[in-house]
Amino acid sequence: SAHHQFLHDMPKCEHHLHIEGSLSPTLLSSLAAKNSISLPDSSVDPSFASPTALEQRYENFTSLDDFLHYYFIGMSVLLHASDFESLAYEYFTRAHADGVHHAEIFFDPQAHTSRGVSYGVVVEGLVAAQKKAEKNFGISSKLILCFLRHLPASHAGETYTEAEALGHFSDGTVVGIGLDSSEVGFPPEIFREVYDAAGKTTLRRTAHAGEEGDHTYISRALDLCNTERIDHGIRLVDNEELLKRVASEKILVTMCPLSNVRLRCVTKVADLPVRKFLDEGVRFSINSDDPAYFGGYILDNYCAVQEAFKLSLVDWRFIAVAAIEGSWCDEERKKTLL
Ligand code: ADE
Ligand code: ZN
Repeated sequence: SAHHQFLHDMPKCEHHLHIEGSLSPTLLSSLAAKNSISLPDSSVDPSFASPTALEQRYENFTSLDDFLHYYFIGMSVLLHASDFESLAYEYFTRAHADGVHHAEIFFDPQAHTSRGVSYGVVVEGLVAAQKKAEKNFGISSKLILCFLRHLPASHAGETYTEAEALGHFSDGTVVGIGLDSSEVGFPPEIFREVYDAAGKTTLRRTAHAGEEGDHTYISRALDLCNTERIDHGIRLVDNEELLKRVASEKILVTMCPLSNVRLRCVTKVADLPVRKFLDEGVRFSINSDDPAYFGGYILDNYCAVQEAFKLSLVDWRFIAVAAIEGSWCDEERKKTLL
């Protein structure tokens, strides 16, 4: 894809990145060998014959659930704190090369605890990589704990309690909570209890909404879970009143252009509401979601938007400022990003 030097040089913040979605087929296959994890037999699913075959399968996802099938199998190779550290440090290395200065990283603890990897091990590895990335690259970062919406709310509640008991909410290790996995049929209000609990603390709140689900998933996240951000949020265009509210309340929408194309939420990047959001003053950032699965890291997403929309420097300035102001870092850090 076309490379735009000014987009590379622009200080970027990433707000929508699932760390498990940055697991490249190469790292996946080396960790599977190291940890003796058996992947599906290639006679059952030929995609697992080689990293190259897997890459090719990733180009043909038919839906969010089709992707999630591979996403959950992929992360099954992560066992030890050092595996999570390698994974996250590989992401930070790539993000640094793309000009990311600040990253807010989603992780899915339930996808690990449900297969016997403890919450503490996951966070230990991620935190080690965060410290190394801060020291070596000057990247600041935060963790956002996501709940899997296809699992019962009680399981989310247990995960919340465990993170809280380890002090990760009060000590700033985890800056906020999110909601991900299969959207349709799992509306945000199922998880109201954990959002209510978070609302009584300093934790920030976001949720995936309006990716495959319709615009009511967005209003329900805002009204019933009191979220401060909306992840994806592309279905905002189907309700003018809601769109105007999101603009006036300065709610950040975390867009993921290449993801939306790969998961067939839109046919092409040009069909995304980028121009509409700019014209209506909806604040949004541009993000990679699951870069190892969707054919591009953050700069590829920025460049795809530029190719499709030919934005002006004024437009790009609006996006860059919205991303910084909508970040969940302290005000001192924001000043250095601006
Ligand atoms: N988990 C990882 N990526 C996701 C996405 N784009 N939507 C929902 N859940 C996810
Ligand atoms: Zn996502």
